[in-house]
Order: sequence, then C-alpha cells, then structure tokens
Amino acid sequence: MVKLVEATLSDRKKAYDWLFNSDFSDFLMKLEGFTRETMPAYEDFTGEYWDFFFDGTQPENGRCFKIVDESNNEEVGFIYYMAFHTKEGVAELDVWLKSLEFTGKGIGPSAITKLVQKLNKELGFQTFFMRPAKENTRAVNSYKKAGFNETELVAEDYYKPEFIEEYRKGGYGEGKDVFLLKKV
Ligand SMILES: CC(C)(COP(=O)(O)OP(=O)(O)OC[C@H]1O[C@@H](n2cnc3c(N)ncnc32)[C@H](O)[C@@H]1OP(=O)(O)O)[C@@H](O)C(=O)NCCC(=O)NCCS
Repeated sequence: MVKLVEATLSDRKKAYDWLFNSDFSDFLMKLEGFTRETMPAYEDFTGEYWDFFFDGTQPENGRCFKIVDESNNEEVGFIYYMAFHTKEGVAELDVWLKSLEFTGKGIGPSAITKLVQKLNKELGFQTFFMRPAKENTRAVNSYKKAGFNETELVAEDYYKPEFIEEYRKGGYGEGKDVFLLKKV
C-alpha cells in the first residue's frame, strides 16, 4: 500500500512545507506554541533537520524517508527516525502526511510499521518511541494502531546522558505529550 523512499536534500523544502504550510499546520503550531508570525523559517528547520537526515551519510544517527502511495506513486508524507540522542538500539520516530486529505486512511500506521521493521532488520534497532502531543489524538490513536503502547517515560532508559535534560520534557512542554513505546 505504501513504500518508503529515501528522501534527498532536494526534498527538504517539501518536508518543511508539508509540516508548516499544510492544512493541519495551524493545529500543530498551536500545540508547539508557535503562531504564523513566530513559526520556524525554512532556515531554522535546516538547523534541526540536518543534512544527514536527507543525504544518508549517518544512518546511525537518523534518516528521513518519503512515504509513497504504491497504487499511483504519489508522495503522500514524510517519516523519519532520530538516534543521535538515544541510547544504543533505541530510535525516536516522527511522521507527517502531506495534508488532512490523506489522514485517517491507515497510511501513518503502515509507514511506521514499515520503518520499524526496516530499522530492526537493517540496523538492529529494537526499541522505538514516539512522543505526540496529548491533544493530537489523531496521532496518538494512529501510533497505537502501529503497535505503540503508552508508557511512563524514564528518560534515562532511552536518552544518552548528555541529552536527557534537553529532551526529557518533550517537544510540547512538560507533561503535554504521550510517551509511546514499541519493542521488537
Ligand atoms: C498523525 C498522522 C501521521 C497519522 O497518520 P494517519 O494515516 O492519519 O493515521 P490513521 O489512518 O490511523 O488515522 C488516525 C486515527 O485518528 C482518527 N482521527 C481522524 N481525524 C481525527 C480528529 N480530527 N480527531 C481525532 N481523531 C481523528 C482516525 O479516525 C483514525 O482512527 P481510526 O482509524 O481508529 O478511526 C497523520 O494523521 C498526520 O499527518 N497528521 C497531521 C500531522 C501530525 O499530527 N503529525 C504528528 C506530529 S508531527
């Protein structure tokens, strides 16, 4: 139904636009505490979504993939894993589709399942987590369908010591996310 295709540097602007200029962006930005005026510019995005996510030079630290609908070869979203900040064998995942039109059709869970299997098989990752905002019930439901379970976060178990302080509170502020875990 969907396949994952390695994203390249020329896809990065599209990844930004589908996150910040899509019809769900106002909802997501509100959760992150941004307004249209204060939202990250593309230049800020490149300072967080580093080159290695798009050029494949550091698979041990992370990589971004395009989600492609196999029925018509349409690109419908992005999914990526990060492991520069996590303990060995652990990866954090995140995913967003092109627009609301593509949500609610099982694309998210299918892409997540594919990425988990691929990372386990090819790079030996065994522990995966996702941290959607509590208020993003669509994302929480979707990730649960992909086999992730709500768990209490013990940051020391998942993050490298030097990243614990920065990452413990999550992307939406203390207590505002759901820690979802999957082990394979
Ligand atoms: C989060 C996301 C990747 C999930 O992928 P998906 O393909 O839509 O996932 P699903 O097909 O499982 O659908 C999500 C579930 O939420 C439900 N849902 C749909 N719209 C909803 C809404 N407005 N509020 C609450 N739940 C909703 C769906 O019914 C579905 O559950 P169901 O199949 O049990 O009915 C996708 O919805 C998305 O890109 N959303 C916008 C970006 C985002 O929030 N990304 C995550 C943070 S960056």
